[in-house]
Amino acid sequence: MVILSILCVTTLFPSNVLSRGSLRSERRSNTTARSSTDHSSHKLQTPQPRKHTPRNKRPAVHIKERGPIKLTKRPTNSKQVRLFGRVGLFLYCNSNGTVSGSLSQLSNFVKFELQSFGPSIVRIRSIESGKFLAIDSKGVLQTKKTATDECLFYQNHEENLFVSFASFKYYMSEHYDMFISVKRNGEVKQATSTLPGQDAIQFIALNANNWTLADFVGWSQMKYSKQL
Ligand SMILES: *[C@@H]1O[C@H](CO)[C@@H](O)[C@H](O)[C@H]1NC(C)=O
Ligand SMILES: *[C@@H]1O[C@H](CO)[C@@H](O)[C@H](O)[C@H]1NC(C)=O
Ligand SMILES: *[C@@H]1O[C@H](CO)[C@@H](O)[C@H](O)[C@H]1NC(C)=O
Repeated sequence: MVILSILCVTTLFPSNVLSRGSLRSERRSNTTARSSTDHSSHKLQTPQPRKHTPRNKRPAVHIKERGPIKLTKRPTNSKQVRLFGRVGLFLYCNSNGTVSGSLSQLSNFVKFELQSFGPSIVRIRSIESGKFLAIDSKGVLQTKKTATDECLFYQNHEENLFVSFASFKYYMSEHYDMFISVKRNGEVKQATSTLPGQDAIQFIALNANNWTLADFVGWSQMKYSKQL
């Protein structure tokens, strides 16, 4: 699968770029006496992301407009939880700041504080390290000492008690489609390779002090379209 898609990328993309490029230069050579300003506008038209990452099959990531969602400065609610993945592992914040999946259910590194900043919008802070989970523009799940807008997640209530957490800031094809995920082997996936409905993105939030299901009664939930 991986080899196939790499093959596709290396065979499809360059020819695509080439044919587009030659079309443009053909068009350009036809029209008479182009000025230098036209030349720079031609430069702008070339596909931007591919220019810097020609051998990468990374999907395009977009920044969501803020829209009408009001975020609070301070958390309006918070809850200490363990996030037990559908794949059978707990979300685990390593002491070196990386994130993985773990069977260590009693470790403090599997405890997180969910902090509510708006309707279904949360930060996830590791209780042990104090760091915040973040997804960057490349879809890499990481932790940050200081919270930024990359540390905001859309908490979606999936079927059967599961929740998922998608980047609030970045998306690929529709809003909130880059998820926190843990694979069966304990590795996290790059958020750009996650899909709605996958087991790897689904977690059960259990209260950190006892093993009961965390409830989010009273937390403001997003009631309108996910396109906001
Ligand atoms: C541009 O030039 C090519 C080759 O010289 C020619 O086939 C084509 O018809 C021209 N197109 C226009 C829009 O002039
Ligand atoms: C961080 O710690 C984890 C678990 O100990 C280890 O697997 C991983 O390789 C470490 N990563 C870095 C970048 O040090
Ligand atoms: C478990 O902990 C939560 C959060 O502290 C609390 O609200 C809940 O009542 C507790 N449940 C039991 C059965 O102790």
